[in-house]
Amino acid sequence: MANPTNDKQSFDFQLDAALPEPLYRQLYERIRGAILAGQLPPGARLPSTRALATELGISRSTTVLAYDHLLHEGYLTSQVGRGTEVSREIPLSLLTAPSQQAQTKTPAHATDLRLAGRIRQLGAIPAAAPLEGAPGGRPFLAGQPALDLFPYRLWARLIARRARHSLALHGYYQSHAGYRPLREAIAAHIAISRGVRCTPDQVIITSGTQGALDLAARVLIDPGDAAWFENPGYFGALGALTLAGAQLAPVPVDAEGLDVEAGLQRSPNARFVAVTPSHHFPTGVTMSLRRRLALLGWAERHEAWIVEDDYDSEYRFDGRPQAALQALDRAGRVLYIGSFSKMLLPSLRLGYIVVPPQLVEPMLATRRNIDVHPPILEQLALADFIQEGHFVRHLRRMRRHYQRRRDCLLHELNKQLAGLLDVYAPEAGMQLAGWLPPEMDDRQVSKAANAAGIMVPPISFFSLEPLPRGGLLFGFAGIPEADIRRGVKTLTGVLERL
Ligand SMILES: Cc1ncc(COP(=O)(O)O)c(C=O)c1O
Repeated sequence: MANPTNDKQSFDFQLDAALPEPLYRQLYERIRGAILAGQLPPGARLPSTRALATELGISRSTTVLAYDHLLHEGYLTSQVGRGTEVSREIPLSLLTAPSQQAQTKTPAHATDLRLAGRIRQLGAIPAAAPLEGAPGGRPFLAGQPALDLFPYRLWARLIARRARHSLALHGYYQSHAGYRPLREAIAAHIAISRGVRCTPDQVIITSGTQGALDLAARVLIDPGDAAWFENPGYFGALGALTLAGAQLAPVPVDAEGLDVEAGLQRSPNARFVAVTPSHHFPTGVTMSLRRRLALLGWAERHEAWIVEDDYDSEYRFDGRPQAALQALDRAGRVLYIGSFSKMLLPSLRLGYIVVPPQLVEPMLATRRNIDVHPPILEQLALADFIQEGHFVRHLRRMRRHYQRRRDCLLHELNKQLAGLLDVYAPEAGMQLAGWLPPEMDDRQVSKAANAAGIMVPPISFFSLEPLPRGGLLFGFAGIPEADIRRGVKTLTGVLERL
C-alpha cells in the first residue's frame, strides 16, 4: 500500500472497450471499489486525469468523467495545489467492501473451507504478534532486540550504496543458497564466535529461523514421522513440525536441558528434534555437556536429525562460553540455525541454516520450489555490514546494553517480587523466566498483567502438557531500564492484588 501522503497511486489495469459498460464507468467502478476495500486509503493521492489517461491509453475526457463522478459522490476531493485525493471523510464503516468483510470474519479453522488438517492445527499454536508500525515494545515484550539502538543511518548508507552500484549486476535470479560473499562472511563469523565447523557451501540463507525450520522440516520429515519437541518449547519449531505433518512427542526440559532419556522412553522411533541448547526457549537453561553428548549419541545411533536453533547465544554475559552443539557433532547429524532477527532486526527476515554436506543438494532443490532465494539487496548490504566489521561492533555494543538491562530486571524482580516469583538468571540471551508458586495459574496472572499494560506471556502457553508450575516470560533486551523499573512496579501491584 502506498503512503497516502506522499505517493501517487499507479494504475496498471486494462479497461476493456469490448464490454457494454462505458470506459469511464469501468474506471469509476475500479477506483470506487479500491476505496471501499481500503486499498486506496483516505488521503491517498491519485494521478492527474492527464497522467492516468496516458497510463491507461484512454482519452482524457474519460478520466475526467470518472473523477467527476467520484468527486460528486464524495469519494474524492480535489484542491488546487494538492491534486486529487481520496476523501478523508468517508465513514470508516464503509471502508471495507462486503466481500473482504466476509473473508476477514471467516475463522481459518472453518470446516467448510476444506483446509488441510495440519493448517487447522496451526490455530492452537501461539505466535508472536506483529506490531505494525509500533516504535517499540511494551515491557516485557520478548524476542525483541533494542530497536532504539540499531544503527539505522549506517544501514541506510550500505543499502543505498548497493542499490546504486550493485543491484544491476545482481538483477537476474541469484543462487538458491543466497549471496556467496554473505555465506562466506557467516561461515567465518560462526567459526570464531560459535565454533561451528562448515564451509560456505554448507550455509544457506533463509527467511530467518522460521524459514530455516520450515526448510529442514520439509526436507527431513514425512507426514506421520515422530519428532521430539522440547516441552515447553519454541512455537516456531512447533509450527514448522506441524506443517510438515510430524507426529509430535513432547519431551520435558529440566535444569540440564532436554531430557534425552525421557525422549527415548516416550518416542523411541523419533527421527527429528528441534532444540535450543545454548539458551533454551522459554526457560533460559543452557544444555549440559552430558546431555549434549547423549543427544548426539542418540542421533547417531538412530540416524536422527538434530536441528539446533542458536537464536540469541551471541549475547552471553557470564558463565563459560559454550560452543554450539554442531561443534561437537562428528557424525553429521546436526543442522545449525542462526538468525539476524535477534542480532539485528526481526523484520529483516534474514537467517541461515548450516547443513551437513550430504543435505546441501536436497535443501537447495526444495528451496528452489518454495521462494527461489531471499531478496538480494539486504543480503548485499548485510555482507558489507559483516565484512566491514560493523556487525561485531554492534554485537559488542548490544551485549553491554543487554547485560545492563538483564541485571536491572533481575535486581528489580528480586527486590520487589521475592517470594512471589522464583527468577531464573540466564547466562545468555534476551529474556528470562520467572516461576510462580504452584498454586498460581500463570495464564490468569498473565491476563491480569496484560490488562495493566505488561506483556509477560505464561510459560504454560509454550507447553503441550501441564507443567509442574507456571511461570512468566520477561523480555529485557528491547526495554530501556526506566521502563523495566516501571514495568516491575506495575506487575508487583498486579500480583499483590491477585
Ligand atoms: C527460540 C527462538 N528461535 C528463533 C527466533 C527468531 O525467529 P526468526 O529468525 O524467524 O525471527 C525466536 C524469536 O523470538 C525464538 O524465540
